[in-house]
Amino acid sequence: GTVALAFSGGLDTTVCVPLLKEEYGYDDVIGVTVDVGQPDSEFAEAHETADALGVEHYVVDAKAEFADLCFDAVQANATYQGYPLGTALARPVIAEAILEVAEEHDCAAVAHGCTGKGNDQLRFEAVWRASDLEVIAPVRELGLTREWEIEYADEKGLPVESGNEGAWSIDTNLWSRSVEGSKLEDPGYEPPEDIYDWTDAPGSETETVEIAFEGGVPVAVDGNEMAPVPLIEYLNDLAGGYGVGRTDMMEDRMLGLKVRENYEHPAATTLLTAHEALEQLVLTKDEREFSQHVSQQWAEKAYEGLVDHPLVAALDGYFAQTQQTVTGTVTVKFEGGQARPVGRESEYAVYSADAASFDTETVNGIEQADATGVAKYHGFQSRLANASKPELAAD
Ligand code: ARG
Ligand code: SIN
Repeated sequence: GTVALAFSGGLDTTVCVPLLKEEYGYDDVIGVTVDVGQPDSEFAEAHETADALGVEHYVVDAKAEFADLCFDAVQANATYQGYPLGTALARPVIAEAILEVAEEHDCAAVAHGCTGKGNDQLRFEAVWRASDLEVIAPVRELGLTREWEIEYADEKGLPVESGNEGAWSIDTNLWSRSVEGSKLEDPGYEPPEDIYDWTDAPGSETETVEIAFEGGVPVAVDGNEMAPVPLIEYLNDLAGGYGVGRTDMMEDRMLGLKVRENYEHPAATTLLTAHEALEQLVLTKDEREFSQHVSQQWAEKAYEGLVDHPLVAALDGYFAQTQQTVTGTVTVKFEGGQARPVGRESEYAVYSADAASFDTETVNGIEQADATGVAKYHGFQSRLANASKPELAAD
């Protein structure tokens, strides 16, 4: 039979190829790389490695679909412990695309090279186990360590780039770039500047951009309408130049492990910041407060790789309602590694300059003096409560 392998050309997925034949008895392995916005060099490397392994290799473009999901995350203001969820959102998209290739090629199984310690195994398999195909996880099932893999690759003469060992474990897509492993596993070790690829160290220059939203979806930058993929790429490039969107964190994985993670996500930070700034202008306090719970739930499910969970569909229904008025523009300033909102405008603004101004007397028939009654009542119940137990209220 044939097995479709989620293939990056890295060490893990490379050693999986002979193991799927030797240990699992498959005759053929096809490698599938899904394009969710990795740098082009990664496809060339994957292709070369697949060639050297004698494996058929397919690249599936899922960038547009992935970018739409990223914009769902913007509407939801979704972050997990401060991380904008790039890897987490990409996994179900990748898993679906691989499943399609596997079915087209009458594969009996699908396989990934994830470890048994991480999140990605769970995210891939949540999608794959809805199919009838066998699911294989050689690294986890055979208990492989990186050391063992390096030795095995050496013995078998597998095409793995030496010199790459000991370097960081990196996962890149349109929405975020993650760097982990090696020396970064020490939470006290300050990341050296060379782990960063998308962001320059913040300098003293500044720049402002205007982001336009329609119904909570980013549609233009500085007046230029752009489709989601180029819009994200453009902002990664621009905001990255000002050092925007670096996160160094301790992350709680699904299995309970804490890991040290470093991320770069200039476009995600810019868009999430701008979106929230616009919501501050057009949503009521009550909507904004309740939305925090909805966002939290959405982000939690996204982190788990379960964007197809019925709860997510229900939460999206909530956002479909609130996002109707999230239309307008936000001016963001890149400064000192931050993306800071410095201006906002919307035809749906709940804000009324007249009502808030100290310079106007009467608004909607209400004048200052009308607040006197409110002021008399404010704190009424706590005064009653404190008066009923003077000995407790004393200090
Ligand atoms: N910890 C992140 C997540 O679970 C990203 C992990 C990405 N993998 C990597 N090898 N850097 O979403
Ligand atoms: C892995 O463990 O294979 C990568 C990291 C993760 O899945 O969280």
